[in-house]
Amino acid sequence: MKNILITGGAGFIGSHVVRLFVNKYPDYHIINLDKLTYAGNLANLKDIEDKSNYTFVKADICDFSRMMELFKQYHIDGVIHLAAESHVDRSIKDPFTFAQTNVMGTLSLLQAAKLTWEALPEAYEGKLFYHISTDEVYGALELTHPEGVEPPFTTTASSSEHHLAYGEKFFLETTKYNPHSPYSASKASSDHFVRAFHDTYGMPVVVTNCSNNYGPYQFPEKLIPLFINNIRHRKPLPVYGKGENVRDWLYVVDHARAIDVIFHKGKIAETYNIGGFNEWKNIDIIKVVINTVDRLLGRQEGEDLDLITYVTDRQGHDMRYAIDSSKLQKELGWEPSLQFEEGIEKTVKWYLENQEWMDHITSGDYQSYYDSMYKNR
Ligand code: NAD
Ligand code: DAU
Repeated sequence: MKNILITGGAGFIGSHVVRLFVNKYPDYHIINLDKLTYAGNLANLKDIEDKSNYTFVKADICDFSRMMELFKQYHIDGVIHLAAESHVDRSIKDPFTFAQTNVMGTLSLLQAAKLTWEALPEAYEGKLFYHISTDEVYGALELTHPEGVEPPFTTTASSSEHHLAYGEKFFLETTKYNPHSPYSASKASSDHFVRAFHDTYGMPVVVTNCSNNYGPYQFPEKLIPLFINNIRHRKPLPVYGKGENVRDWLYVVDHARAIDVIFHKGKIAETYNIGGFNEWKNIDIIKVVINTVDRLLGRQEGEDLDLITYVTDRQGHDMRYAIDSSKLQKELGWEPSLQFEEGIEKTVKWYLENQEWMDHITSGDYQSYYDSMYKNR
C-alpha cells in the first residue's frame, strides 16, 4: 500500500490527477489535501468521493504543524504537489497571497516531508516529492521565424495535426529561469526550494513544467471556460491587447497521464517539460471556440464573433510560451493522446452539458458543497 498525498486535488488539474490515481491504483491510498480556496471545488470529484482508497482533508499547506500531523497520520510515501494560486491576473492584483501559498506553502510541505522522512529507519528510500510547475518560469519567447517563412510555420516535432510554431526557440529543461509575473516569480521560487531540498538534504524530488492546460473542470476565470460561458450567454469576450499572444495548449487528461508516468518512472532530481507542440494565437483559439460553441448550440457558426471585445492588455503580458517536451517523449515514452481539434470539441461539449456545474460556480453555491458533504462525516 502506498500513501500518496496529492495537494490541490479539488482544483482543475489536481482533480484529474486524483481521479486517475484513485481509479487506476486501487492499492494506493490517495489523500487529497486542499484548502478549498475560491478555486477548489469538491464537485469536481463527485464520481470518486466514495471510493475506499480516497480521503479528502481540508487543510492549508502553509499550516506547518498540520502538515507534520498529516504526514505522520497517513504515513505519506509520495507527494504530488499541485496546490497553488494559479491565476496570473490575480497575482498582478495581490502578489502577497501568491508568495504565501506558492513559496511558503511549498516550503512548509517540503520541511514536513523532510522531518518526517528523515526520522524513519529507511529515511528517503521509496519516497518522492513531485512538484508541479509551469512553463511560465522560463519567461517569454519572441515571435520569430526562419528566414523567408512567415509564421506560423509547421514543426515536425508534434504528434498533433496542428504542428504550428510561432518562433524558432522553445523552452527546454535547461532554459534559464526568467519569470515576469508575480505568479511565475512565485512558482520559480518554489521550484528552487524543491531543488534545494534535493541538493542540500538528499530528498528525492522531481519537477515538471507544463504548458497551458484546457479541459473539463477549469475555473471560469481562465480563457477557455470563461469564453465558452460568455458565448453561451452572449456576453462580451474580453481579448487582452491585440489577441496576438501565443500559448501552447495541452488537454488536461494528457497532463495527468504525464504526471502518472513521471511519478512512477521519472529520474530523481530531473526536470521534465510537458507540452503539446500545439501553439495558438489567442485570437485564433478564440475563433475556434466561438465556432464550436455556436455549432453545438445550433446557432449559425461564427454568429457570435461580434462578441470579441479588445480590452486593455494584461500588464507584463508574456508574448509566447512554447514547450519542447521531447525529453519526456523520448525518455519516458509519453505523448499527448488527443489531437487538439478533438480535445477542444470534447471540452466545449463538456461545459455545455454541465451548465449546472458552471452555474454553481458563477452563483457561488459551490463553496457550500464541502459543508454538505464532509462536515458531518
Ligand atoms: P487551480 O487554481 O484550479 O487549483 C488550485 C488548487 O489548490 C485549488 O483546489 C485550491 O483550493 C488549492 N489551494 C490553493 N491554495 C492552497 C493552500 N494554501 N493550501 C491547500 N490548497 C490550496 O490550479 P490548476 O490550474 O489546477 O493548477 C494546479 C497546479 O498546476 C498549480 O501548481 C499550477 O501552477 C500548475 N500549472 C497549471 C497550469 C494550467 O494551465 N492550469 C499549467 C502548468 C502548471
Ligand atoms: O502556461 C501555463 C500557465 O497557463 C499556468 O501556469 C497558469 O496557472 C494558467 O492560468 C495559464 O496561464 P495564462 O495566463 O496563459 O492563462 P489564462 O487562461 O489566464 O490566459 C490565456 C491567454 O489568454 C493569455 O495570453 C491571456 C489571454 N486572456 C485571458 C483571459 C482570462 C484574454 O485575452 N482574456 C481573458 O479574459
